[in-house]
Amino acid sequence: MTLALDGGTPVRDTPFPTVSDASGRTFGAAEAAAAARVVASGALWRVTGTEVDALEREFADYLGVGHAVASTSGTAALHLAVAAIDPEPGDEVIVPPITDFGTVIAVLACNAVPVFADVDPVTGCLTAETVAAALSERTRAVIPVHLFGGPAPIDEIVALCRPRGIAVIEDCAQAYLTVPDGGSTWAGTRGDIGCFSLQQSKHISAGDGGLTVTGDPALARRMRLFADKGWPRDTGERTHLFYGLNYRMTELVGAVARVQLTRLADVVAARRSVARRLVDDLADLPGLRLPEPAEIERHSFWLFPMLLDPAVAGADNERFGAALAAEGIPVTAGYLDRPVYLNPALTERHAFGTSNFPFTSPPARAEMRYAAGDCPVAEDLIDRTLLVLQCNERFTERDVADIVEAVRKVSKHHAR
Ligand SMILES: Cc1ncc(COP(=O)(O)O)c(C=O)c1O
Repeated sequence: MTLALDGGTPVRDTPFPTVSDASGRTFGAAEAAAAARVVASGALWRVTGTEVDALEREFADYLGVGHAVASTSGTAALHLAVAAIDPEPGDEVIVPPITDFGTVIAVLACNAVPVFADVDPVTGCLTAETVAAALSERTRAVIPVHLFGGPAPIDEIVALCRPRGIAVIEDCAQAYLTVPDGGSTWAGTRGDIGCFSLQQSKHISAGDGGLTVTGDPALARRMRLFADKGWPRDTGERTHLFYGLNYRMTELVGAVARVQLTRLADVVAARRSVARRLVDDLADLPGLRLPEPAEIERHSFWLFPMLLDPAVAGADNERFGAALAAEGIPVTAGYLDRPVYLNPALTERHAFGTSNFPFTSPPARAEMRYAAGDCPVAEDLIDRTLLVLQCNERFTERDVADIVEAVRKVSKHHAR
């Protein structure tokens, strides 16, 4: 069968459900009613409303942690977390090179410097070994990302960091209800702080929004104040105890997010069942590595990752991905165009004017520079082996069948 890329008929010529609009989202009458309820109340900010307070309680209870603090985005949620750790300018925070730039923004916004540790060649996540290799006397925190909804080895990273007084901040923006190894509790509750996003493309959404969780009341209070200008409103005083921002979630967002939270378990279950079918129907293809069947219940499939062995599959991720896209399949080769550290903001050390702060020494331990080759495993994933398929709770049997047919067609063509 001729590939669509070579002029053949594409497997699919209609769009798939997408997170960009109602076709791939779960917003319904209950969300509309929640938003209308807030408008009718006249209290659209959290200071005199009730919705965001209720969301924080409900989310903390859902995850079984003591505290949740709402904010305006996943990036803000991470900023709250790093700010609560309160690093000195130039202190180091270890991050993975395959993530959204929001992970790094949180570090830079605290005048700390990101140190990139390499990743596991299969999961794309930090490991205890790669984190250990990146530690220094200036390391204050590590931010493992549970990439695509797949669990990072969080318990091992915590075991490495806790005796050294290094905080572990779990970036769960892609990982609601992910279950890391070594227990049954969810990602976000194993480290010191967990950060979630309610942005349009996440498992649950209110357009934009963030939630940060912790079991530590002191960290929770610092985060709560940081999101509200350092203002301890609970004391009744108009004082500002430390630098903070206005990251207050609005009541409209809070009310919609509360309804979305009631849908979360179904969303994750539906994505796992899509993943199960893909794994069942694609497992025999040469040079294509899929999530292990036993891992499916631990993964929450924000995206569905596949790893190519180009020598066996007959194509690298760029070529395989272009062929799949031509067949009408929503796929991205490499997930990112480049590892996070090769973005101009970091290679040109451009955060605050022309100062190169905080990458200069002092305040940093050494002059911080970022360059190709820093994390070879991550670069290989992005450049050669990683392919990510969209995964959506609204995919029908037909949608999944079309993906399977297209992947088999492209595989057969190249493996010949
Ligand atoms: C892993 C990761 N971290 C952080 C973020 C930032 O979240 P937001 O877009 O809500 O600021 C995202 C989302 O894009 C993400 O996927």
